[in-house]
Amino acid sequence: MQTLRRAGWATGRAGRRGAGSTGSCGRSESRRGAYRASRGRLSTFARLERDAWQSAELSRAYADGFGSLTQQSVPAMLDAVGVAPGEELLDVATGPGYLIPSAISRGATVTGLDFSADMLAIAATLRQRLWPLAADGKYSLESPRLKLVCGNAEELPFRTGSFDVVVCSFGVLHLPHPDRFLLEAHRVLRPGGRLAFTVWEAPPATVGFDVALRSIAEHGVSELDAGPPFFGFADPAVAAAACEAAGLVGATTTSVPQTWHLANSQRLFQVMAGATARTRAVIQAQPADARQAIQRAIQREVEASCRNEKGGFSFSMPAALTSARKVA
Ligand SMILES: C[S@@+](CC[C@H](N)C(=O)[O-])C[C@H]1O[C@@H](n2cnc3c(N)ncnc32)[C@H](O)[C@@H]1O
Repeated sequence: MQTLRRAGWATGRAGRRGAGSTGSCGRSESRRGAYRASRGRLSTFARLERDAWQSAELSRAYADGFGSLTQQSVPAMLDAVGVAPGEELLDVATGPGYLIPSAISRGATVTGLDFSADMLAIAATLRQRLWPLAADGKYSLESPRLKLVCGNAEELPFRTGSFDVVVCSFGVLHLPHPDRFLLEAHRVLRPGGRLAFTVWEAPPATVGFDVALRSIAEHGVSELDAGPPFFGFADPAVAAAACEAAGLVGATTTSVPQTWHLANSQRLFQVMAGATARTRAVIQAQPADARQAIQRAIQREVEASCRNEKGGFSFSMPAALTSARKVA
């Protein structure tokens, strides 16, 4: 099946396709309408992403499926931007807010932004998760240095020059127009401010995507023609060019090792089919027999090549981490 390139999986220049804004924290059609009106009709891909993340089920499945994995690159991200005590940090596409406790414990005041009310509801439970930090004096619950904001990464609801640091952990690959996010990040940064974002490295380095996408390519029959290249920003040249186009300088990309540990061999298909946006849509678009063939192929390959010594399954899922800065 020659679908993967058309489905936006290939690497390459990102962010030029489709039209329309995206995002909605309320679930009413009128709120969605307001977002649509700001930039015209939503593209197929923007609609796919918006509808996927406005779901309590998907948000919970994401936290269960990916949480232990995407948290692994948080220290590298915060090191890359060198966040210092007293600085204002904006975490765009915060999701369940994994980055927030570490940023607060480094002394930053944090704003977490996401367009999903369900994700923000999970992130709101951070107040409980922050208790251990409060206990050792790193965080005060009386004057919390944490704000959660509903909004669109491509139209940030903040004044120009509001933040010292902007980060985005595994959010850029979900945006219809990543170039608009970079322009917005540049706008809301103070002079000399720093930006960092992570995306998945391209297969075969990210074994989970390698196994899943090869199985879909081999056994799938339905296509999804939508979205900028999924792995586009994993290419350092693409990331650097996009940063430069937005006015950000000194872009560098490094690889951050991450390992996914799964309890059983069915889990990879379950997470890909239930806790992602684009991959889930591709799997859901398959007829039942193709979907089952994909599921069996993924499970077979996980069993054949990913066993660990504890009776479970482990494999490499590195992040590509790009950092850049606004001229002082
Ligand atoms: C893959 S999750 C990443 C969550 C978290 N940052 C992490 O590292 O695990 C992507 C997040 O981006 C959010 N998102 C996607 N498109 C968005 C947009 N246009 N504006 C704001 N948030 C968006 C989704 O709601 C979701 O919470």
